[in-house]
Amino acid sequence: MRTPLIAGNWKMNTDSESAAALASAIAARAGEFSAAELLVCPPSIFLTSVRDAIGGAAVGLGAQNMYHEPKGAFTGEISAAMLTSINATYVILGHSERRHVFGETDEDVNKKTVAALGAELKPIVCVGELLEEREAGRTAEVIRSQFEGSLAGISAGDMADVVIAYEPVWAIGTGKVATPEQAEEVHADLRKQLVDRYNAELAESVRILYGGSVKPDNAAELLSQANIDGALIGGASLKADDFLAIAQASSATV
Ligand code: 13P
Repeated sequence: MRTPLIAGNWKMNTDSESAAALASAIAARAGEFSAAELLVCPPSIFLTSVRDAIGGAAVGLGAQNMYHEPKGAFTGEISAAMLTSINATYVILGHSERRHVFGETDEDVNKKTVAALGAELKPIVCVGELLEEREAGRTAEVIRSQFEGSLAGISAGDMADVVIAYEPVWAIGTGKVATPEQAEEVHADLRKQLVDRYNAELAESVRILYGGSVKPDNAAELLSQANIDGALIGGASLKADDFLAIAQASSATV
């Protein structure tokens, strides 16, 4: 049984005060959602204040990005070890905004994934097709190639610590959510790739999240799909009530 992971990607939102307040509001009610694993991924500058606001509550701390090198002259970057040193346990890698706004390639994502795993930080590796790729009937091919490229050389032992997030680019921040059938088709194909590359047992244990306009009113249907094991939430994760309502929807499906 895969415990659903409900992850909030705050992106470049909040400020010092509102980040801590949002984390506190989520932490205060986290005990109600024991059937799901909750995770918040604030901007890196607020990671420590969010960690402190969470306190002992069952809410994980994740970063939105990192660099693959361990240290050195890489102005503006943060390393996996820096993240683990402040008790972050997850890092989002290869988000479509990193890929499309900042030009990250599958090779970059792969290097970061290897570095995160080496530092015992769990990567949430994102894949997703553009609208024109979907319309051209290329979704499966694009997702397979991102899977192959971003997760190249990852051993079965390491893959057990990886979370995959399917985020169709056309559904991110647009209010256009993938239908449960569209999402499930891609998730099932990702699971099949895990079976083909590793084995059925490992494939069954890896969580595959859906992201792209997940809201309280569409979460239950998405999360009830056989191969959707949680959500990576942008806009709706900025309101504690909405984020927790999505967690509630996931608890209802397990
Ligand atoms: P929205 O939920 O705002 O569409 O963002 C999804 C996303 O990109 C999460 O990583």
